[in-house]
Parts: sequence; structure tokens; C-alpha cells
Amino acid sequence: MSSVDEPASTSGAGRIVARLADLADPGAREFFIGEGDWPFRGLLVQVSGRLMAYANVCPHKQHPLNLADDEFFVPGQTLLRCASHGALFEPESGLCVYGPCAGRKLRALECWVENGEIWVRQVPISHES
Ligand code: FES
Repeated sequence: MSSVDEPASTSGAGRIVARLADLADPGAREFFIGEGDWPFRGLLVQVSGRLMAYANVCPHKQHPLNLADDEFFVPGQTLLRCASHGALFEPESGLCVYGPCAGRKLRALECWVENGEIWVRQVPISHES
């Protein structure tokens, strides 16, 4: 579990959450912002050089998608899966294409890369989506 307490700078009210070099392509990685028992949980996804960030909150029952660190993709790495009830999501859009929340989307977060570090726009420390 990685955690980012304070940003290296406050560029655009963002937070550094990971280094791009630590994210596989295709690949996914969880990040946390905040302290205590309930930090904000987020998810970075990279596919074909395209970077996305989502709140790690399933639209079905608001569970985190993963049970274990960074296990988000189905085998073959074409879709993201919620481990709780099996919802499947397109990594590029966050759209649920199969399962109990089909048609709903993961909450997208603005993200960008600066000097090899991945930034996410400041997000509320909450699991609400
Ligand atoms: S909580 Fe994700 S499919 Fe039910």
C-alpha cells in the first residue's frame, strides 16, 4: 500500500500519487490520499500509453474494486474487474460493461504527468462518488 501525505508541490491543487515508471502498460495501480482508517482510494490505469485515474469505488455497492494490491485487470488485461460481485469496466472510459452496475461509470479523476510523476487533481477525502 502506497500513501502520499503531502504533495511535493501544489501545482494546480494536485497530488503526486505515483511515478510513471512504476506503472506498467497495460497496468493498474492503487493509490491513497490522506491518513487514518479511511484515506481516499484511487486507481491509476495505463493502456497503450494513455493514462487514466478513477476513484477506487465500484458504482454497485461502493466497494473498492480490488481485494489485493494492484489486482484490477482480468487475465489478458482487457477489462477491469470488481472483485466483490464481478462487474467489468472498460479501462479507458470506466464504463461498466457487465455486471450489476452495467451502464454506470467509475468516477474519473483528472490526472497528468510532470517530470515523470503522476499527479491527480485534489480530490475530496471521501468514498462518495
Ligand atoms: S461492489 Fe462491485 S460489483 Fe458489487
